[in-house]
Amino acid sequence: MLATGGAGFIGSRVVAKLLEHGYEVDVVDDFSTGDMDNLPTHPRLRVFRHDITDAGGLEDMVAGVEAVLHMAAIPTVPECEKNVKRAFEVNVKGVENIAKACVNTGVKRVVFFSSAAVYSASGVVGEESPVKPLSVYGYTKLVAEEMLRCLNEQKGIDTTVLRIFNVYGRLKLGKGSLGVVDQFIADALSTGCLKIYGDGEQVRDFIHVDDVAEAVLKAVEMAGRGHRVYNIGSGEGVSIAELAQLVQQTVGTRKINVIHLPSRPKDIKHSVADVSKAARELGFRPRLNLKTYVQQRAGG
Ligand SMILES: NC(=O)c1ccc[n+]([C@@H]2O[C@H](COP(=O)([O-])OP(=O)(O)OC[C@H]3O[C@@H](n4cnc5c(N)ncnc54)[C@H](O)[C@@H]3O)[C@@H](O)[C@H]2O)c1
Repeated sequence: MLATGGAGFIGSRVVAKLLEHGYEVDVVDDFSTGDMDNLPTHPRLRVFRHDITDAGGLEDMVAGVEAVLHMAAIPTVPECEKNVKRAFEVNVKGVENIAKACVNTGVKRVVFFSSAAVYSASGVVGEESPVKPLSVYGYTKLVAEEMLRCLNEQKGIDTTVLRIFNVYGRLKLGKGSLGVVDQFIADALSTGCLKIYGDGEQVRDFIHVDDVAEAVLKAVEMAGRGHRVYNIGSGEGVSIAELAQLVQQTVGTRKINVIHLPSRPKDIKHSVADVSKAARELGFRPRLNLKTYVQQRAGG
């Protein structure tokens, strides 16, 4: 198994899950936001430092693997807005490089980490809901999805797209961004100041990183032939204001200030996954609960 971006937040948990299940794993990562400390030393793990925008050498890394899990990306809306050129280089050109290497070396399956940011509809979205991203990040993911659909149609490689919702469970800051759940917990325990962009009525679907890793394992083992798209979320909506309240209640007597900042452009209002297809076809059901996580992390 080859895991691009395997040294990152989600990637490292996916790698740990694959090793636990007996797979040999090769990681390709440029360590721009990933960290070697996220990865164990393991006899079935090899790590290559490589930027996926550089096609040279990728074929050697990809050759002979059962599947490629493509996670390497510029993974946030603000970073992609700030550097549009780099966002397209990594999130689109990088996918093209990986796809070509797979074609030239006979790889049978690619699992791609897409995002809820591809959707335009507000509310509960299924895989057939309209796609029309609000952000550069969402566009890069949608273009990459289309490239993979063509890869399947034209070259017969099985392509599985996971549209992942908002992931929490990052235990240390590292070089990447924390995500709102872990940011609120960190801020509550340090400065005591939670920053909400806009009115806090934005609704999100939060899923724990270990549930995502489980979904990836299911996708590797259970996804059928062809081009498949799955939402990976909890299926439950929580507003940012509710999340702030949960963190506030959990830290108990400590004083928490909630401040409201101007809303961020490109912020989707309401984003919740219909997860019935992943349950039906992959047998994936999220197990971990947001409230329990917040209580364990912030309540201690
Ligand atoms: N975190 C979320 O809430 C979330 C939600 C939906 C989708 N995703 C997707 O999941 C994937 C992983 O995201 P994450 O949150 O773990 O982010 P992350 O920043 O922790 O991981 C990204 C990894 O890719 C590596 N990388 C970046 N550019 C690279 C390049 N040019 N060449 C090689 N490696 C490169 C980084 O060093 C890092 O290890 C991304 O594709 C992201 O778009 C994340």
